[in-house]
Amino acid sequence: MAIDRDALRARYDAIRARTEALVAPLGVDEQLAQAFEDASPTKWHLAHTTWFFERFVLRAFASGHEPVDARYDYLFNSYYEAVGARQPRSERGLIVRPTLPEAHEYRRRVDDAMRRFFARADEATFARAAFAIELGTHHEEQHQELILTDVKPLLAASPMRVAYARAEREEHAPAAPLEWIAQPGGLVEIGARREDGFAFDNEGPRHRAWLEPFELASRCVTSGEYLAFVEDGGYETPALWLSDGWAHARANAWASPIYWERDEHGAWYERTLRGREPLERDAPVSHLSYYEADAYARWAGARLPSEAEWEVVASSCAIDGNFVESARFHPRAARERGLAQMFGDVWEWTASAYAPYPRYAAFDGAFAEYNGKFMCSQLVLRGGSCLSPRAHLRATYRNFFPPSARWQMTGLRLARWAH
Ligand code: AVJ
Ligand code: FE
Repeated sequence: MAIDRDALRARYDAIRARTEALVAPLGVDEQLAQAFEDASPTKWHLAHTTWFFERFVLRAFASGHEPVDARYDYLFNSYYEAVGARQPRSERGLIVRPTLPEAHEYRRRVDDAMRRFFARADEATFARAAFAIELGTHHEEQHQELILTDVKPLLAASPMRVAYARAEREEHAPAAPLEWIAQPGGLVEIGARREDGFAFDNEGPRHRAWLEPFELASRCVTSGEYLAFVEDGGYETPALWLSDGWAHARANAWASPIYWERDEHGAWYERTLRGREPLERDAPVSHLSYYEADAYARWAGARLPSEAEWEVVASSCAIDGNFVESARFHPRAARERGLAQMFGDVWEWTASAYAPYPRYAAFDGAFAEYNGKFMCSQLVLRGGSCLSPRAHLRATYRNFFPPSARWQMTGLRLARWAH
């Protein structure tokens, strides 16, 4: 089901421009370094998202397209075995050529070629290319969020106190009291329907699931609530932790969330994309691993929701909230009572393994590698974050990371069985 050519061209232009605007505050040095093996330099994200269009649209469908540089397949292929050998992920920060200006020039040249393709491709060719273009735009939105999460550890590690953005500190608002939203459960349906527009292959097919009666927390767990767990010795109490989590937390000397720190007077601070700020206790806690989220839930006498529990509640919510467009670049307190923060603020860990839904069918060709091959040893996160583009999110959207990952904008919402 291809969307129409003018709409797709407008979407392409808007998303490409949005990426440029997002990186504009970053200096050259910040765009080149790689903070650690899972994070990629901004330069790599800029070129990889461009390579996606060159490799899967222009080289596949635009007659006579000469590759800008055939060696970019090696440098900017992320994980497609069908495409071939590639720069190891942990060595993306060692790519000295193309230079940053050359990477930007690569973007311009591919954008020019894409515009020619939009203008000149015949109907049949365009129809065959449309899916790859559409996927490329959703792919670039994913990388927009990754640009921010991947640069954050670089800025946070610097004693020079670099901020990505300066934001007015908002007036303090206490978090709304936590309420429990009762749900009957029973036979429910989750997953993306084909007729609902674009969805990644991992979001479908729509299928039935059985849920016991449950209750979902009205908002996310706050930093203040999480601090109570820290101060209660949560990180020193093995009975609260999964075995893998305990081993990982010990081996890495975890004692609080990754960007938290305490000064000599015992006051807590958090390194954010806006610089170092006093810990905002009413805002959702962020940058937790699954292990920490799970331990907190156990300490709180609750549990993490399954992704089906989360989705049945989210499916009747408007996609409102604190997204990248708010330019806060940080979660903020839920001010109103009742169900809140289902979308935006922080990705919410679920207890669900990232596994295929019944009758899952991967995308065709090289795109079969896009999501399906990662369906092992990762967990599903729902709802999007304050770094996600709003239009990128859906109730059926399944993000996924390994349980030890802490560098994404990840938090939690509690669930419990109905009494
Ligand atoms: C869904 C965020 C785990 O980071 O590899 C980027 C997104 N997929 N390019 C990832 C993605 C292809 C993906 N996550
Ligand atoms: Fe990618």
